Amino acid sequence: MPTYIVLLGPPGVGKGTQAKIIAERTGLPHVSSGDLFRENIHGQTELGKLAQIYINKGELVTDDATIAMIRERLSRPDCAFGALMDGFPRTPAQADAFSEMLADFGGKVDHVPCLLAPEEMLVERLSGRWTCRAQGHVFHQRHNPPQKPGVCDMDGSELYQRDDDKIETVRRRIQVYAAQTELLIAYYRRRGLLTEIDGGRPVEEVTADLLAILEPK
Ligand code: AP5
Repeated sequence: MPTYIVLLGPPGVGKGTQAKIIAERTGLPHVSSGDLFRENIHGQTELGKLAQIYINKGELVTDDATIAMIRERLSRPDCAFGALMDGFPRTPAQADAFSEMLADFGGKVDHVPCLLAPEEMLVERLSGRWTCRAQGHVFHQRHNPPQKPGVCDMDGSELYQRDDDKIETVRRRIQVYAAQTELLIAYYRRRGLLTEIDGGRPVEEVTADLLAILEPK
């Protein structure tokens, strides 16, 4: 049976950072809704044009467009054994649609680790974040600086600051998370799937907690 893990948590808590490490350790593909939207924006697709309007304001893209994009991504062969979800689902409607989709793929949500950190830490992390243009590797100017400023250590591509990491947009994204995505904490807790993790600690400590949850007992 395929394994599906939903990494939950507010903007900047470290979902993408952890998902990349965990994907490498478990072999599960890292499916990031934000990265998929940014690929569409870069490719100037119709979905990308729609997504950009919402992303630049710090709002969520519509459920229908998001669900269709994720269904298409999860039907690709590399997801045959499951996926590590980062940024999806983000609303109760997306969570319901996700369960239905997984039933079609012969699976279910197996674990929902939720990373938590105080708001000022999220703002500090996002305002100092640098993202790699080619593969989305993330750095931080203070906590995890690249060896050469502006250049990705992993693939040598250019590092850039995301438009939605501007302070006003970051504050809006955090509000939107509190209003629309935090509901999923109770949603998955009721189903016995949620584990809260302190995301305010060093990367390696957070990774160790995540692996402890995900590794079979
Ligand atoms: P998305 O790309 O998903 O952004 P997000 O959820 O806001 O999360 P981020 O990528 O900003 O943060 P992260 O938690 O991954 O942190 P990171 O590891 O980079 O979504 C963007 C937009 O797309 C949304 O606003 C929405 O418009 C749209 N969208 C996406 N999904 C959608 C959906 N399902 N429905 C509707 N719309 C959707 O870390 C941040 C920084 O901190 C980095 O610099 C990193 O180096 C550093 N850092 C990480 N961990 C640590 C640590 N432990 N200690 C110190 N520094 C750390």
